[in-house]
Amino acid sequence: MDNDHGTAQKPHEEGRAATTRPAVAVIGLGLMGQALAQVLLKQGYPTTVWNRSPEKADALASQGAVRAGTAAEAVAAAPLVLICVSTYEVVDELLAPLTDALAGRTVVNLTSGTPEQARTTAQWAARHGIGYLDGAVMSVPEGVGEPGTILLYSGPHEIFEAHRATLEVLGGGTTYLNSDAGLASLYDVSLLGLMWSTMSGYVHAAALVGTEGVDAETFTRVGNMWLATISGYLTAYAGQIDSGTYPADATLHTQAMTMDHVIHASEERGIDSVIPRAIKALTERGIAAGHGDDSFASLIEVVRNSKPVE
Ligand SMILES: NC(=O)c1ccc[n+]([C@@H]2O[C@H](COP(=O)([O-])OP(=O)(O)OC[C@H]3O[C@@H](n4cnc5c(N)ncnc54)[C@H](OP(=O)(O)O)[C@@H]3O)[C@@H](O)[C@H]2O)c1
Repeated sequence: MDNDHGTAQKPHEEGRAATTRPAVAVIGLGLMGQALAQVLLKQGYPTTVWNRSPEKADALASQGAVRAGTAAEAVAAAPLVLICVSTYEVVDELLAPLTDALAGRTVVNLTSGTPEQARTTAQWAARHGIGYLDGAVMSVPEGVGEPGTILLYSGPHEIFEAHRATLEVLGGGTTYLNSDAGLASLYDVSLLGLMWSTMSGYVHAAALVGTEGVDAETFTRVGNMWLATISGYLTAYAGQIDSGTYPADATLHTQAMTMDHVIHASEERGIDSVIPRAIKALTERGIAAGHGDDSFASLIEVVRNSKPVE
């Protein structure tokens, strides 16, 4: 620690107006935790790190991180504690014994989980006078610190504002959602669903064109242009969903017939058709519910009212 206030002057700033960086502790040095700590170090934040398997702190220590011997030592070193471990169960296991030490500090939890887990952890923090933000990193570790990288936060706004400058270092797309600690996780699972359904469609499409010798790189140049077009559709559909009216650009009836072409072309070439068949099944449910002449966005009515599978 460089001074009594847990702040440090960046070496390259000597001789000009000094800016200071508050101290940060990072608990959990898996792939993501290491990336978070590394970016903080590079940006001149005095960073104390702890990990269950201590060797994962070696590279960071050689870059200037302070290696804490215990999680309690890490917490004591900084007013802001980032935690990024495999699950919320591990978060609970690690932080519960540190309740007293954490009082008056802020925990930013970047571990993936459900909204319910986030809310439970936020309630625990509030009961013990611990500032708490729940966060989601919408990136692989290599993206941490990049201008386009999205990190989402929810929890008390004043706590986010108090640490905004530090959190913004972790990604240019740093976004505060609202005071409900569960919302960052809700966005996280929603965005992951969007990612996996898009990537599943991509894998299917690449396999389909690949049956006739088109390599994935060639196809993906067109695929990415198509995704930009689809992004425009989503913007239009958002207005439809919010207003509950679904004027058709192409009706569900028309799209269902076109889906048959995708299924036919796939099966004719020996390609797995589970993805187009699932989309067609959802579309047929929309038609059965009376949305045959509506846009694709009307399927939200089916998804919203889905009954659990027996
Ligand atoms: N990697 C990504 O691309 C990515 C992207 C977004 C979000 N995330 C989320 O970030 C979190 C961490 O992911 P990761 O990729 O860093 O995973 P990881 O490389 O597997 O690291 C897991 C971390 O959890 C720690 N841990 C697990 N069980 C523990 C226990 N019982 N006690 C103490 N520490 C324990 C591990 O410690 P040891 O080293 O001692 O095993 C390690 O620090 C996950 O929730 C993940 O969903 C990851």
